[in-house]
Amino acid sequence: METDILNLYPFRKDASFDYLYPNHIKELSQMHWTPIDIAKKAAFFLAIPNARVLDIGSGVGKFCITAGAHFPQTQFIGIEQREAFCSYANVAKDEINVDNVSFIHGNLTDLDYDDYDHFYFYNSFYENIEPGSRIDYAVTTSVELYERYSRFVYAMLDAKKSGTRLVTYYGRETQIPPSYNLVDQAYNKMLKMWIKR
Ligand SMILES: C[S@@+](CC[C@H](N)C(=O)[O-])C[C@H]1O[C@@H](n2cnc3c(N)ncnc32)[C@H](O)[C@@H]1O
Repeated sequence: METDILNLYPFRKDASFDYLYPNHIKELSQMHWTPIDIAKKAAFFLAIPNARVLDIGSGVGKFCITAGAHFPQTQFIGIEQREAFCSYANVAKDEINVDNVSFIHGNLTDLDYDDYDHFYFYNSFYENIEPGSRIDYAVTTSVELYERYSRFVYAMLDAKKSGTRLVTYYGRETQIPPSYNLVDQAYNKMLKMWIKR
Protein backbone atom coordinates (compact mmCIF):
# COMPACT_ATOMS: atom_id res chain seq x y z
CA MET A 1 0.00 0.00 0.00
CA GLU A 2 1.34 3.41 -0.92
CA THR A 3 1.73 5.81 2.00
CA ASP A 4 -0.28 9.01 2.30
CA ILE A 5 1.24 10.16 5.58
CA LEU A 6 4.77 11.28 4.69
CA ASN A 7 5.55 14.55 3.04
CA LEU A 8 6.05 13.38 -0.53
CA TYR A 9 6.88 16.84 -1.90
CA PRO A 10 10.56 16.01 -2.67
CA PHE A 11 9.38 13.14 -4.89
CA ARG A 12 7.34 15.26 -7.30
CA LYS A 13 10.31 16.08 -9.50
CA ASP A 14 13.90 14.85 -9.78
CA ALA A 15 15.17 18.37 -9.17
CA SER A 16 13.28 18.62 -5.86
CA PHE A 17 14.80 15.35 -4.65
CA ASP A 18 18.30 16.10 -5.91
CA TYR A 19 18.16 19.32 -3.87
CA LEU A 20 18.90 17.11 -0.83
CA TYR A 21 22.49 16.66 -2.06
CA PRO A 22 25.55 18.88 -2.61
CA ASN A 23 26.15 20.20 -6.13
CA HIS A 24 28.73 17.62 -7.19
CA ILE A 25 26.26 14.82 -6.34
CA LYS A 26 23.36 16.60 -8.09
CA GLU A 27 25.48 16.79 -11.23
CA LEU A 28 25.76 13.00 -11.31
CA SER A 29 22.02 12.52 -11.03
CA GLN A 30 20.97 12.44 -14.66
CA MET A 31 23.42 9.73 -15.63
CA HIS A 32 23.84 7.71 -12.45
CA TRP A 33 20.79 7.87 -10.14
CA THR A 34 17.39 6.33 -10.87
CA PRO A 35 14.80 8.97 -11.86
CA ILE A 36 11.93 9.31 -9.36
CA ASP A 37 9.18 8.01 -11.70
CA ILE A 38 11.22 4.95 -12.53
CA ALA A 39 12.08 4.32 -8.88
CA LYS A 40 8.36 4.46 -8.00
CA LYS A 41 7.42 2.03 -10.76
CA ALA A 42 10.21 -0.37 -9.78
CA ALA A 43 9.28 -0.11 -6.11
CA PHE A 44 5.61 -0.82 -6.82
CA PHE A 45 6.67 -4.19 -8.26
CA LEU A 46 9.14 -5.00 -5.47
CA ALA A 47 7.21 -3.73 -2.43
CA ILE A 48 5.86 -6.95 -0.98
CA PRO A 49 4.79 -6.17 2.63
CA ASN A 50 7.37 -7.28 5.24
CA ALA A 51 9.93 -8.20 2.55
CA ARG A 52 13.52 -6.95 2.44
CA VAL A 53 14.55 -5.44 -0.88
CA LEU A 54 18.23 -4.87 -1.68
CA ASP A 55 19.48 -2.18 -4.07
CA ILE A 56 22.69 -3.70 -5.47
CA GLY A 57 24.92 -0.62 -5.71
CA SER A 58 22.78 2.01 -4.00
CA GLY A 59 24.76 5.17 -4.82
CA VAL A 60 23.44 8.14 -2.81
CA GLY A 61 20.21 6.30 -2.02
CA LYS A 62 17.76 7.74 -4.53
CA PHE A 63 16.03 4.42 -5.31
CA CYS A 64 15.84 3.18 -1.70
CA ILE A 65 14.61 6.47 -0.23
CA THR A 66 11.98 6.98 -2.94
CA ALA A 67 10.81 3.38 -2.58
CA GLY A 68 10.80 3.46 1.22
CA ALA A 69 8.86 6.70 1.43
CA HIS A 70 6.13 5.37 -0.86
CA PHE A 71 5.98 1.80 0.48
CA PRO A 72 6.43 1.88 4.27
CA GLN A 73 5.56 -1.78 4.83
CA THR A 74 8.69 -2.98 3.00
CA GLN A 75 12.34 -2.62 4.05
CA PHE A 76 14.69 -1.16 1.43
CA ILE A 77 18.41 -1.68 2.00
CA GLY A 78 21.26 -0.39 -0.13
CA ILE A 79 24.81 -1.76 -0.43
CA GLU A 80 27.33 0.78 -1.69
CA GLN A 81 31.12 0.55 -2.11
CA ARG A 82 31.77 4.32 -1.96
CA GLU A 83 31.72 5.41 1.68
CA ALA A 84 30.99 9.05 0.84
CA PHE A 85 27.87 8.02 -1.12
CA CYS A 86 26.64 6.04 1.88
CA SER A 87 27.04 9.13 4.06
CA TYR A 88 25.08 11.29 1.59
CA ALA A 89 22.40 8.59 1.46
CA ASN A 90 22.08 8.59 5.25
CA VAL A 91 21.81 12.38 5.41
CA ALA A 92 19.07 12.37 2.74
CA LYS A 93 17.26 9.50 4.48
CA ASP A 94 17.23 11.42 7.78
CA GLU A 95 16.02 14.55 6.01
CA ILE A 96 13.07 12.67 4.49
CA ASN A 97 12.59 10.80 7.78
CA VAL A 98 11.98 7.26 6.57
CA ASP A 99 12.63 4.45 9.02
CA ASN A 100 12.28 1.49 6.62
CA VAL A 101 15.44 2.41 4.68
CA SER A 102 19.09 1.65 5.53
CA PHE A 103 22.46 1.67 3.84
CA ILE A 104 25.48 -0.57 4.20
CA HIS A 105 28.95 0.55 3.22
CA GLY A 106 30.84 -2.31 1.59
CA ASN A 107 31.32 -4.47 -1.43
CA LEU A 108 28.31 -6.41 -2.65
CA THR A 109 30.42 -9.59 -2.71
CA ASP A 110 30.61 -9.51 1.12
CA LEU A 111 26.87 -9.62 1.88
CA ASP A 112 24.84 -12.55 3.14
CA TYR A 113 22.09 -12.76 0.53
CA ASP A 114 19.92 -14.98 2.72
CA ASP A 115 18.95 -11.68 4.38
CA TYR A 116 17.27 -10.28 1.23
CA ASP A 117 14.13 -11.31 -0.62
CA HIS A 118 13.97 -9.14 -3.75
CA PHE A 119 16.43 -7.01 -5.73
CA TYR A 120 16.86 -3.78 -7.67
CA PHE A 121 19.81 -3.45 -10.03
CA TYR A 122 20.69 -0.33 -12.04
CA ASN A 123 23.54 -1.53 -14.21
CA SER A 124 25.93 -0.88 -11.35
CA PHE A 125 29.10 -2.28 -12.92
CA TYR A 126 29.02 -0.39 -16.20
CA GLU A 127 31.69 2.13 -15.22
CA ASN A 128 34.14 -0.80 -15.20
CA ILE A 129 33.84 -1.23 -18.96
CA GLU A 130 32.89 2.27 -20.15
CA PRO A 131 35.39 4.97 -19.08
CA GLY A 132 32.96 7.72 -20.17
CA SER A 133 30.48 6.63 -17.51
CA ARG A 134 32.98 6.55 -14.65
CA ILE A 135 31.40 8.18 -11.56
CA ASP A 136 34.66 9.32 -9.93
CA TYR A 137 38.11 7.98 -9.04
CA ALA A 138 37.27 6.74 -5.53
CA VAL A 139 37.33 3.08 -6.58
CA THR A 140 39.33 0.94 -8.99
CA THR A 141 37.57 -0.05 -12.21
CA SER A 142 38.46 -2.83 -14.66
CA VAL A 143 36.98 -5.27 -17.12
CA GLU A 144 37.96 -8.05 -14.69
CA LEU A 145 35.88 -6.46 -11.92
CA TYR A 146 32.93 -6.09 -14.31
CA GLU A 147 33.10 -9.79 -15.09
CA ARG A 148 33.66 -10.84 -11.50
CA TYR A 149 30.75 -8.76 -10.11
CA SER A 150 28.45 -9.79 -12.96
CA ARG A 151 29.22 -13.48 -12.38
CA PHE A 152 28.68 -13.04 -8.64
CA VAL A 153 25.25 -11.40 -9.02
CA TYR A 154 24.21 -13.95 -11.65
CA ALA A 155 25.03 -16.87 -9.34
CA MET A 156 23.42 -15.17 -6.34
CA LEU A 157 20.18 -14.54 -8.27
CA ASP A 158 20.16 -18.06 -9.65
CA ALA A 159 20.40 -19.47 -6.11
CA LYS A 160 17.41 -17.51 -4.76
CA LYS A 161 14.09 -19.24 -4.23
CA SER A 162 11.15 -19.35 -6.61
CA GLY A 163 9.10 -16.14 -6.49
CA THR A 164 12.12 -13.84 -5.99
CA ARG A 165 11.47 -10.53 -7.71
CA LEU A 166 14.06 -8.50 -9.57
CA VAL A 167 13.92 -5.15 -11.34
CA THR A 168 16.71 -4.17 -13.73
CA TYR A 169 17.21 -0.69 -15.16
CA TYR A 170 19.42 -0.71 -18.25
CA GLY A 171 21.88 -3.59 -18.13
CA ARG A 172 22.14 -6.62 -20.35
CA GLU A 173 19.71 -9.52 -20.39
CA THR A 174 22.71 -11.89 -20.40
CA GLN A 175 23.39 -10.71 -16.81
CA ILE A 176 20.12 -12.34 -15.70
CA PRO A 177 19.87 -16.13 -15.23
CA PRO A 178 17.37 -17.91 -17.51
CA SER A 179 15.57 -19.08 -14.35
CA TYR A 180 13.99 -15.58 -14.22
CA ASN A 181 10.88 -14.87 -16.30
CA LEU A 182 10.51 -11.38 -17.75
CA VAL A 183 6.99 -10.42 -16.62
CA ASP A 184 6.79 -6.73 -17.52
CA GLN A 185 8.83 -3.91 -19.02
CA ALA A 186 8.49 -0.15 -19.31
CA TYR A 187 10.32 3.04 -20.27
CA ASN A 188 11.24 1.87 -23.73
CA LYS A 189 12.13 -1.58 -22.35
CA MET A 190 14.88 -0.10 -20.17
CA LEU A 191 13.05 -1.06 -16.97
CA LYS A 192 12.45 -4.79 -16.69
CA MET A 193 10.55 -6.76 -14.05
CA TRP A 194 11.46 -10.38 -13.45
CA ILE A 195 10.23 -13.23 -11.25
CA LYS A 196 12.18 -16.40 -10.57
CA ARG A 197 10.39 -19.59 -11.63
C1 LIG B 1 24.42 3.50 -11.46
S1 LIG B 1 24.72 3.77 -9.72
C2 LIG B 1 23.07 3.44 -9.15
C3 LIG B 1 22.72 4.05 -7.82
C4 LIG B 1 21.36 3.69 -7.25
N1 LIG B 1 21.07 2.27 -7.36
C5 LIG B 1 20.26 4.45 -7.90
O1 LIG B 1 19.52 3.85 -8.66
O2 LIG B 1 20.12 5.66 -7.70
C6 LIG B 1 25.64 2.28 -9.30
C7 LIG B 1 26.30 2.28 -7.93
O3 LIG B 1 26.79 0.95 -7.69
C8 LIG B 1 27.95 1.04 -6.89
N2 LIG B 1 28.71 -0.21 -7.01
C9 LIG B 1 29.32 -0.70 -8.13
N3 LIG B 1 29.95 -1.85 -7.87
C10 LIG B 1 29.76 -2.12 -6.54
C11 LIG B 1 30.19 -3.17 -5.68
N4 LIG B 1 30.95 -4.18 -6.12
N5 LIG B 1 29.79 -3.14 -4.38
C12 LIG B 1 29.03 -2.10 -3.93
N6 LIG B 1 28.62 -1.06 -4.69
C13 LIG B 1 28.97 -1.07 -6.00
C14 LIG B 1 28.67 2.25 -7.48
O4 LIG B 1 29.64 2.77 -6.56
C15 LIG B 1 27.49 3.21 -7.77
O5 LIG B 1 27.30 4.09 -6.71
